[in-house]
Amino acid sequence: MLWYIIKNDTITLGEYALSNFYQYKEMPQKRLEYLNIISDIMNVRKRGDKPMAFINTYGCQQNVADSEKIKGMLSVAGFDFTEKAEDADFILFNTCAIREHAEDRVFGNVGALKNIKRRHPSVIIALCGCMMEQKAVADRIYKSYPFVNLVFGTHSIARFPELFYNLLVNSKRVFGSCDDNTIYEDIPILRDKDFKGWLSIMYGCDNFCSYCIVPYVRGRERSRSSDAIIAEAKAMIEAGYKEITLLGQNVNSYGKGLKEDISFSELLRRIDAIEGDYLIRFMTSHPKDCTRELIDTIAESTHISKHLHLPCQSGSSKILKAMNRRYTREKYLDIINYAKERIPDVSITSDIIVGFPGETYEDFCETVSLIREVGFTSLFTFIYSRRPGTPAAKMPDVATEEEKGKWFTELLKVQEEIAASRCKSMVGTTERVLVEEVNKKNGLLSARTSGNIIVEVPGDESMIGSFREVKITEARNWILRGEFI
Ligand code: SAH
Ligand code: SF4
Ligand code: F3S
Repeated sequence: MLWYIIKNDTITLGEYALSNFYQYKEMPQKRLEYLNIISDIMNVRKRGDKPMAFINTYGCQQNVADSEKIKGMLSVAGFDFTEKAEDADFILFNTCAIREHAEDRVFGNVGALKNIKRRHPSVIIALCGCMMEQKAVADRIYKSYPFVNLVFGTHSIARFPELFYNLLVNSKRVFGSCDDNTIYEDIPILRDKDFKGWLSIMYGCDNFCSYCIVPYVRGRERSRSSDAIIAEAKAMIEAGYKEITLLGQNVNSYGKGLKEDISFSELLRRIDAIEGDYLIRFMTSHPKDCTRELIDTIAESTHISKHLHLPCQSGSSKILKAMNRRYTREKYLDIINYAKERIPDVSITSDIIVGFPGETYEDFCETVSLIREVGFTSLFTFIYSRRPGTPAAKMPDVATEEEKGKWFTELLKVQEEIAASRCKSMVGTTERVLVEEVNKKNGLLSARTSGNIIVEVPGDESMIGSFREVKITEARNWILRGEFI
């Protein structure tokens, strides 16, 4: 197993003899022992009534799901949670490496923790997540941020209690990153909400899209057993969850490498067969593995949302090839057209990258024409960000940052038009929504349709967490207004 090892004040990657670690079978028992000792020590160190943790999660739902596991372990160790870093005994940033901007924001916010450490020297500052899987980042944290006590990567979450224990007992900085790909099924999860939640079905990614850092920081693709997933889904539904989102970087390739012979469509059918009033969502689908069988499964299901998040990234087959996406514009449109045919009113959303190396204005125009042709409900749009270590980082670029910025604005304008006209066409219809929260700005309840569109409705907070029928009365660009029936 590879770990960061601190020697002569620098970090190197080294072999750590496996025998030094307890084995998989011992894991749950050992973890509990460590958490109990952490609880004892923190009860002495705490500043308030209870040891308090502040957790700041950056990035995508995989990180949110990981943070819910860390919270689960911290609550076993007696921690409560605070929204104020200032009040915490333990501060954790779960970081994201997807774009340079995301990393810069983390470095900036970590820098600002220095003041809290100065005021409360006993506070423990920890960093985890995708950025910490990059050795260059760990090095920089080690050298330039001496007040950071604990660093661990995405592969070390199951070992968090052991690393935290070592830090407390030895009073030394702990930098742990290992290449452990085991799926640990026994980690407790403390979910942020009690009516909608994430359910990881697989980890890692094997696709190596040429721009993307994820396969390097999340490791190889590995699926959980269908029995473990079904058991977790059942437990969530029994506990009153109304919406479950199945998570993975490419859920369509679920089952690869498992002993059991199971596809994502089959897994969905098995979950859909669980009795109850609930909605199933999933993300993310990769167009190269999105089959007609999957579309049929959604069309024929009782509980699966009529929403497909299918990132196309670009509308130019030339750029898609350079991105190593392994589908063409035509193949993408083919699956979209089949979805529109089989699932009435299907809502389709996507991710788009503008300004990939080598992209010209003509290529960009193909993206715009694809967007018009599909008529997406909404888009996540990004300007390409160079990620050192990925193949695209070495590709020559033709467009300037200024040009890319202009294209980006043009894209947003087109999408705004499309979303607005789609929302307008829904006025007068009736939608079943899940009420999620109160919009603090206007006091309205914020609810979500099966197609993932937000509807704001006047109503009582007690409705949060329930399904309701809403008559759509007004369209406001990409959100709707309505009245409960
Ligand atoms: N696994 C998912 C997406 C994961 S990352 C998929 O394949 O669709 C989320 C989004 O971030 C990607 O879809 C892509 O649009 C964007 N992204 C990833 N790397 C990027 C980079 N280097 N620059 C800009 N955007 C990027
Ligand atoms: Fe990144 Fe591509 Fe994997 Fe998505 S499928 S996480 S974009 S490499
Ligand atoms: Fe970021 Fe890691 Fe997700 S890099 S987007 S948090 S998988």
